[in-house]
Amino acid sequence: MYKSGRIIASLVIVVALLSLPFFYNMGKTNKRPGINLNTPAIQKLAVKQCIEPTEWMRANHMQLLNLWRDEAVREGKTEYINSQGKSFKIGIDTCLNCHYNPALNSSDQFCVSCHDYASVKPTCWSCHPWQNGAAK
Ligand code: HEC
Ligand code: HEC
Ligand code: HEC
Repeated sequence: MYKSGRIIASLVIVVALLSLPFFYNMGKTNKRPGINLNTPAIQKLAVKQCIEPTEWMRANHMQLLNLWRDEAVREGKTEYINSQGKSFKIGIDTCLNCHYNPALNSSDQFCVSCHDYASVKPTCWSCHPWQNGAAK
């Protein structure tokens, strides 16, 4: 038992050493893609907000677009009321009205740059070709 102090001390050191790479890489790994939010439409917004809170959009924009598709195509809905009671026109165009930047190449556009970075290939663009954020 008299050795337990030293054992605990060396365990602490081992754990500290093992976690060094983690601290060293903090903020370096998972570097985000160069997302460009600086579009003419967003510059004009008094309050820089997406349709729903940013974190939610980052994680759930695909579900929102699928919901919009179902509502538009199956129920003929044209309007989406967000969690703050604000109204938006249902359509992929609505996203691009804010997120498309005519000054950028197609590969640098908001949607495309992030999808390329994450190797996501939405199946939507075969039918919505000009709506992939590359051109408008
Ligand atoms: C097989 C072809 C096809 C594919 C693939 C497709 N769509 Fe559509 N989508 C349509 C058609 C046709 C309409 C109706 C167009 C209209 O009413 O103007 C539509 C309408 C929509 C609408 C509402 C209208 C608008 O202007 O945006 C949304 C939102 C939508 N689709 C989202 C998606 C999403 C998201 C995907 C991929 C997950 C997708 N679609 C894939 C054919 C397709
Ligand atoms: C009224 C303008 C506007 C519309 C319409 C809009 N956005 Fe946004 N969006 C923004 C702004 C501004 C931000 C950044 C908010 C911030 O800085 O927190 C943003 C952020 C985002 C983000 C998070 C980006 C990041 O930093 O990770 C995603 C994803 C996104 N939008 C997708 C969409 C999609 C998909 C649509 C259509 C369904 C859409 N947006 C419609 C203005 C808009
Ligand atoms: C911050 C990065 C980021 C931005 C910006 C972004 N996306 Fe995405 N998107 C993703 C990721 C990651 C996925 C895949 C998520 C998954 O598979 O669960 C995805 C998936 C999708 C899908 C579903 C694809 C499928 O086949 O099911 C659609 C549709 C989509 N995004 C549309 C858009 C549109 C339109 C914009 C621009 C207005 C946009 N995204 C901007 C990261 C982003």
